[in-house]
Amino acid sequence: MHYHSIGKFPHKRHTQFRKEDGSLYSEELFSTEGFGNVSTLLYRCHPPTQIIQVGEPRDIAPKLIHDKQLKHRSLKGFNVDPVDDYIESRKPVLVNSDCAIILSAPRKSMTDYFFKNADADEVIFIHKGTGTLRTMYGNLTFSYGDYLVIPRGTVYQFNFDNEDNRLLIVESYSPVVTPRRYRNDFGQLLEHSPFCERDFRKPTELETHDVKGDFLMYIKKQDNLYPYHYLSHPFDVVGWDGYLYPYAFSIHDFEPITGRVHLPPPIHQTFEGAGFVICSFVPRLYDYHPDSIPAPYHHSNVDSDEVLYYVEGNYKARKGIEVGSITAHPQGIPHGPHPGTIEASLGKKWTDELAVMCDTFRRLFPTKAALDLDDPAYPESWKGEHFPQSAGKA
Ligand SMILES: [Fe+2]
Repeated sequence: MHYHSIGKFPHKRHTQFRKEDGSLYSEELFSTEGFGNVSTLLYRCHPPTQIIQVGEPRDIAPKLIHDKQLKHRSLKGFNVDPVDDYIESRKPVLVNSDCAIILSAPRKSMTDYFFKNADADEVIFIHKGTGTLRTMYGNLTFSYGDYLVIPRGTVYQFNFDNEDNRLLIVESYSPVVTPRRYRNDFGQLLEHSPFCERDFRKPTELETHDVKGDFLMYIKKQDNLYPYHYLSHPFDVVGWDGYLYPYAFSIHDFEPITGRVHLPPPIHQTFEGAGFVICSFVPRLYDYHPDSIPAPYHHSNVDSDEVLYYVEGNYKARKGIEVGSITAHPQGIPHGPHPGTIEASLGKKWTDELAVMCDTFRRLFPTKAALDLDDPAYPESWKGEHFPQSAGKA
């Protein structure tokens, strides 16, 4: 991201910055990779260190099933039951040592605690729901189609407008960034990028709660949840400046790149972390060579697991693939269009499908929660006549 500032702060960093009563504000440097990457300086009403009490940790590690089978999977994501609490609602379904793919259907806003993921950056795709992400950096409003990119360590609360919310969350154990090939040496997005700076929404409204009390913060670290009680409100920031902060980007602002013949998934790439990429498949013109085949070719992916989350499009007529479903095609065995899909795609000019892809270089492992959503017939669905998958993706 780029330099941004909000609120008030001293002219020179690391100098005396005083309140009206003459006391000092507390300066906090926030970084996620030592002092060698982007950081932000925040100015707080109170030190962020005043712990009242530390509670007992709770193990929230994903329950892996240790499945040794290489197997295509189709997970019916909307079968995840909605639950009131946000943390309880987060159901990891596919995980490896670089990232975790999580489905979540929270009903209630977070009103009596704050959350901090100290393990991972989070990319939260809003499939259903509207509201406000409240953070120590300020607030971001969100709606259908938004990616919320939250650096690790950001203290936040979700404030939902209603109870019908569906989230796809990717936890990344490395910083999430836009593809390097779309940025120049100064970080500016280049002309061939499918998005530009104007598409990224930064925190605007800064909440400053200059109050003391007992504030509960659940801190996630190494798959445990630590309840910390702090003396000061986590949102007591009067100003900050720097390069590290949460932001929002709408999938509807992704400008698709098209060609005369089928182009591979990297043209859809939106974000990346170490060991994985996130891509946006958006409504677009199909390939325009007179003999083009809009459906993807069969693909032997020996080096990556390919995960696709279906957001919107004409999936109801397609057996087995529904809105909210995830397909996972593991590395080592080829995948591709279902029988009849290639022929059916010929001459098609346009697709209205919307999907989010997360491809990983390390193998993903399903969790017990994933098995509860799994369609057992999917791995053998290519042998039949009529089990067409979406034409536009591979
Ligand atoms: Fe593929």
